[in-house]
Amino acid sequence: MTEAKRLAGEKAIDYVQDGMIVGVGTGSTVAYFIDALGAIKDRIKGAVSSSEQSTQRLKAHGIEVLDLNHTGTLSLYVDGADECDANKCLIKGGGAALTREKIIAQASQQFVCIIDPAKQVNTLGKFPLPVEVVPMARSLVAREILAMTGGQPVWRDGVVTDNGNVVLDIHNLTISDPVAMEKAINQIPGVVCVGLFAQRRADVVIVGGQPPQVL
Ligand code: A5P
Repeated sequence: MTEAKRLAGEKAIDYVQDGMIVGVGTGSTVAYFIDALGAIKDRIKGAVSSSEQSTQRLKAHGIEVLDLNHTGTLSLYVDGADECDANKCLIKGGGAALTREKIIAQASQQFVCIIDPAKQVNTLGKFPLPVEVVPMARSLVAREILAMTGGQPVWRDGVVTDNGNVVLDIHNLTISDPVAMEKAINQIPGVVCVGLFAQRRADVVIVGGQPPQVL
């Protein structure tokens, strides 16, 4: 799938316009986008990054990383996903960067999601749904999610997010109503962010291939 990720990442450059500040996601697919962005870095003003990992890669290319508080609304956000359905609703957070990713997606006018074909699903939920949680609420949130959804929460042991929180991965879900589930999990005290991107979903999905498919 590496080749498909590269093709998707490079195709997303079509959406970058001169003078833009580009919102940049996290993950192995986005890494290809960052590398392609590096080749046209003189055409852009800079980037807003969703993780320390992406920040390092952007800086290595000489791309200035800016604070979202100083940029205002962004024109474009490019990010990968762990699953994508036909309505462009997503599961994200396999790389534990979901909170900053959701913030930048919300702050952006256009969200271009870059995936390989294996990420396309009919119904979200086979990929365990990541939920970022304040550490002291870990057990509480796990119990509430189990009662609410029937899914099995598993603590991603040893992982601390860039925001100092922990991650629960919810297994065995069949997400028939992504918007409703996103809203419901958001209501649980201690939840920082759920990796369902349904209320603010992708606007454009690029599926890597020869040629890439734009949905
Ligand atoms: C990071 O937290 C995630 O949301 C990634 O965007 C997602 O896991 C996709 O990653 P890959 O591009 O590495 O598959």
